[in-house]
Amino acid sequence: MVADLTQADCLRVPAQSLEKPSSNMEVTALQVEQLGLQLDGKVILQDVSFSLPTSGVTSVIGPSGAGKSSLLRCLNGLLTQWSGTVLVDGADSRQWRGGWDRLRRHVGLIAQKPVVFDASIRANVCFGIHGWRQRRRADELVEISLRQAALWDEVKDRLDAPAATLSVGQQQRLCIARAVAIKPAILLLDEPTASLDPRSKQLVEQSMQRLARDIPLLCVTHDLEQAQRLAGRTIFMCDGRVIEEGESNQLFSQPECIETREFLRWSVCDCN
Ligand SMILES: Nc1ncnc2c1ncn2[C@@H]1O[C@H](COP(=O)(O)OP(=O)(O)OP(=O)(O)O)[C@@H](O)[C@H]1O
Ligand SMILES: [Mg+2]
Repeated sequence: MVADLTQADCLRVPAQSLEKPSSNMEVTALQVEQLGLQLDGKVILQDVSFSLPTSGVTSVIGPSGAGKSSLLRCLNGLLTQWSGTVLVDGADSRQWRGGWDRLRRHVGLIAQKPVVFDASIRANVCFGIHGWRQRRRADELVEISLRQAALWDEVKDRLDAPAATLSVGQQQRLCIARAVAIKPAILLLDEPTASLDPRSKQLVEQSMQRLARDIPLLCVTHDLEQAQRLAGRTIFMCDGRVIEEGESNQLFSQPECIETREFLRWSVCDCN
């Protein structure tokens, strides 16, 4: 049993995040400066700038096509042809030691649709675990990760069953467990509860809240109530740009921009 391990044990700070700039500089988990992206000649993101605190949930809201998913894909290096600067724990993501593959382990991304591998529940969680030290602790890591994803109680007696036998809600939590098992320093989530029933949604939200005590979460959501419930800060995007960003309380109750006000009221934005 590993139930007595603390959250800090579970999310040991990866070595990469110790490579920080000098102590008199303010360090944020993520500092995005003038990020721009064009795909097939079309401007997808322009002049996107914001920073992510070192813990807590930050939500990204905005209409369909605003560029929210594209932004997440730039931040974890799935898209690399962007312009501007992304500092991860104070270090330039383009110069990340070990390249984009290592960056993707440091900045985890959970997609909207759960993607489980054709393997057992246990194998799915262990997928990204490298190194003999970690592999020797695999059983322990599987339990810790599944607990963090609020899935342990439902699967502890069937860890060798195929992951495909899980419900969609359970598969989404399995994806969270798999991402958490490699101890990311930052977690990006793209509409993680969009296809879930209310109970699974609640479990995923609880798991996010627990994780956010130790690492920052950047969560794209169309669920404005969820953003208010979970996120200390919210970024409103439209047409590839950040329109407004700030404390969620402030942004939802007294938005500064007319575009934000319209979006919150009508769920549409006509800035493009
Ligand atoms: N590979 C691509 N090539 C060309 N255009 C793309 C590509 N990927 C995304 N786009 C375009 O970029 C824009 C932003 O897409 P993105 O998926 O980031 O939006 P989104 O805000 O996540 O939308 P949704 O809320 O519907 O998920 C869209 O107009 C989309 O058609
Ligand atoms: Mg999207």
